[in-house]
Amino acid sequence: MSIKPPRKFFEPLAIGAPQPYRDIPVRLERMIHFVPPHLDKMRAKIPEMIGQVDVVLGNLEDAIPADRKEDARRGFIAVARANAFGDTGLWTRVNSLNSPWVLDDLTEIVAAVGNKLDVVMLPKVEGPWDIHFLDQLLAQLEARHGIAKPILIHAILETALGVANVEAIAAASPRMHGMSLGPADLAASRGMKTTRVGGGHPFYGVLEDARADGAPRMLTQQDLWHYTVAKMVDACVANGIRPFYGPFGDFSDPAACEAQFRNAFLLGCVGAWSLHPSQIDIAKRVFSPDAEEVRFARKILDAMPDGSGAVMIDGKMQDDATWKQAKVIVDLARQVAARDADMAEKYGL
Ligand code: GLV
Ligand code: MG
Repeated sequence: MSIKPPRKFFEPLAIGAPQPYRDIPVRLERMIHFVPPHLDKMRAKIPEMIGQVDVVLGNLEDAIPADRKEDARRGFIAVARANAFGDTGLWTRVNSLNSPWVLDDLTEIVAAVGNKLDVVMLPKVEGPWDIHFLDQLLAQLEARHGIAKPILIHAILETALGVANVEAIAAASPRMHGMSLGPADLAASRGMKTTRVGGGHPFYGVLEDARADGAPRMLTQQDLWHYTVAKMVDACVANGIRPFYGPFGDFSDPAACEAQFRNAFLLGCVGAWSLHPSQIDIAKRVFSPDAEEVRFARKILDAMPDGSGAVMIDGKMQDDATWKQAKVIVDLARQVAARDADMAEKYGL
């Protein structure tokens, strides 16, 4: 037998570790805001940041210089101790499992602030074996430190092998929270010929047919990430966990960032990373449903109270399936409204 039987799957992996969740807790996570915790200036902004973002993430991995890794870990612990996070998620991105830092990242952080930590983001996940290792280690640490609720795992999908194993990763443990696409590492791993972090590329497109008059032909840019995002969404949703788009690197192009986030949102992602404060509002705008869409979706739900039959609304056919589509939008709007008074007013909720 190569997979665990259902009852075993939900048993704690260590004596004294908390019971794994059956369903991951419902939370609004439109943006995962990255903070480099080794910098005093950045740590000082956290109290104000907590009310503005859905998730605060202390980054310990890439972008933190090797000689500041310990400072980043200490800085994250200090931030976690010093603040009350309320409904805002507290996550950390630890170093990869083959690095010299990850063991201390996990042991020190769970010991110090394991009761406040919601999610560990694990980079460079290549297969279910990576999740199993972290799952077991977290269970040991939870048991040792008397952690009350399970610390969840969020995998970054950023290697070719990870993409090949995406379904097994999503199904690896009840501790899985979700997954983010990591376009920078993934591009490198696959040998994609782009130096960009997310977004399109001017050379990746479809050239229109030659014209009889010899006029110049248009190359229409295509989405480099479509296949991977769609594959990740299916793997996540099939397993009851959440898909996210990851980083968008060009801070000088907010329109391109918005377009990338929006494609991910439309394909099923629930959020994206914000690496720069300017990307927080972009994520808020994109990952909160549009007020017009919400109004129309509510019309559908109102017209079909039991979700069955067929009606016409504004010339458009509605049935059981579109009722479900409408429910996705309205459920999300209610979640957003509960957290954001301005949006509640816009939605009329
Ligand atoms: C994120 O970690 C990426 O590599 O894009
Ligand atoms: Mg990466």
